[in-house]
Amino acid sequence: MIAIGCDHAGCEMKRIIIETLSEKGWDFCDLGCNGEACDYPFIAEKVCTEIISGRCDMGILICGTGIGMSMAANKINGIRAAVCGDSFSAKYTRLHNNANVICLGARTIGCGLAVELADIFLNTNFEGGRHQRRIDMITNLEKKG
Ligand code: RB5
Repeated sequence: MIAIGCDHAGCEMKRIIIETLSEKGWDFCDLGCNGEACDYPFIAEKVCTEIISGRCDMGILICGTGIGMSMAANKINGIRAAVCGDSFSAKYTRLHNNANVICLGARTIGCGLAVELADIFLNTNFEGGRHQRRIDMITNLEKKG
C-alpha cells in the first residue's frame, strides 16, 4: 500500500499518479488534499504516519516544488524523503538511501515525468550491503535530536 498526499499545488499530479499507477497494480491510500488550500506539513505528517505505523510501505508527497514536503517529512523519525526531478535520483535514492518517500514538484516537472519517477521509485529495491551502515548513521542522527 502506498500513501500519497499533496497540497493544493499538487492535486492534478496526485490524481494522474494514482490513476496511472493503479492500472499497474499499485494500491494507494489517498490522504488528501482534494483541491482546498492546505498546509503541506499537515499532509506530510499524515502520509508519514501511515508509513511509520506500517500501514503503508512507501509514500509519495507532492507540493509546488517538493521541497517543503521533503523538509517536513524528514523531521519525522524513520522517514527518508527525497525530492526527485530526474530518473537517476529516483532510482538511486532507493538503491543507496533506502528512501521511503519520494517528493515531487508539481510546479517544477510535468505529470508525465512525475508518473515515471514514481514508477521507478516504487519498483526499485534497496541494495543493502555497505549502504545499510550509512542508513544506520542517519538513524543515529535522529537519536541525537
Ligand atoms: C504552496 O503555494 C507552495 O508554497 C508549496 O506547494 C510548496 O512549493 C512548498 O514547498
